[in-house]
Amino acid sequence: RGKRAFIAGVADDNGYGWAIAKSLAAAGAEILVGTWVPALNIFESSLRRGKFDESRILPDGSLMEITKVYPMDAVYDSPEDVPVDVETNKRYAGSSNWTVQELVECVKKDFGSIDILVHSLANGPEVSKPLLETSRNGYLAALSASSYSYISLLKHFLPIMNPGGASISLTYIASERIIPGYGGGMSSAKAALESDTRVLAFEAGRKHKVRVNTISAGPFRSRAAKAIGFIDMMIDYSLANAPLKKELSAEEVGNAAAFLASPLSSAITGAVVYVDNGLNAMGVGV
Ligand code: NAI
Repeated sequence: RGKRAFIAGVADDNGYGWAIAKSLAAAGAEILVGTWVPALNIFESSLRRGKFDESRILPDGSLMEITKVYPMDAVYDSPEDVPVDVETNKRYAGSSNWTVQELVECVKKDFGSIDILVHSLANGPEVSKPLLETSRNGYLAALSASSYSYISLLKHFLPIMNPGGASISLTYIASERIIPGYGGGMSSAKAALESDTRVLAFEAGRKHKVRVNTISAGPFRSRAAKAIGFIDMMIDYSLANAPLKKELSAEEVGNAAAFLASPLSSAITGAVVYVDNGLNAMGVGV
């Protein structure tokens, strides 16, 4: 049987999540995706209308099939956590079962089990504010959407993950080096995500034989990255200073994720794997 992957955080054909889905599909995996509720309608209708067909093309010429798209909001674990204003919000009212617990129940009902879990989502409402100007709520929101969301997803999916399975998230080097502009507690959220990767690797490895790794990706012009506002500068900086002088493609991150999800990496867990043209290894700009 081929492997089944759930990729959380796909809402267009231009982010790391989409590229990871493609690499996993090219390697023969069945693809399920989780899409943020407010972005669900546009994503599903674009998919249906063929808007993504060109980006669905796999190396063998076939089109990537997404078996099912699930609505999700990773900041809510169960229905009791959803505040009334969200529940009654027009963009949420049309969907159901999108808290983490309900989502996983639906995947279990539909498919029984998964082999690969990918977390490719982040959100920091105050990302454009320096840390010193970040509010408590903004900071906690960044950690909730970008770090705890991973703990919650893994915790709920683990019971239906097959032994030998793998879990992958996406992080950024602002967790360990100063990257002015990556504010609002997003640097803190990535530091938490990386630390949690180690602890979760231990717990999920001992209990379920599941590996847990994170990819520290270089800068890429995704929708989320454009919203932060400094992505072009970061791409130029990398082009000028990284050991490999080329723009990073999402496919390169996708391929690394496929490796980390495959038995080729069967002894790698708890790792932060840099997929950044080597920029992390530089000590000075040149
Ligand atoms: P993206 O915009 O394709 O992906 C972010 C996704 O998160 C979107 O689909 C959005 O709808 C979803 N999302 C936000 N809040 C959510 C919530 N509460 N529940 C469910 N989904 C939610 O952008 P990108 O850049 O591909 O981001 C994917 C991951 O890669 C993120 O963790 C990001 O921090 C990381 N990353 C991105 C880099 C870049 O330069 N683009 C560099 C290093 C890491």
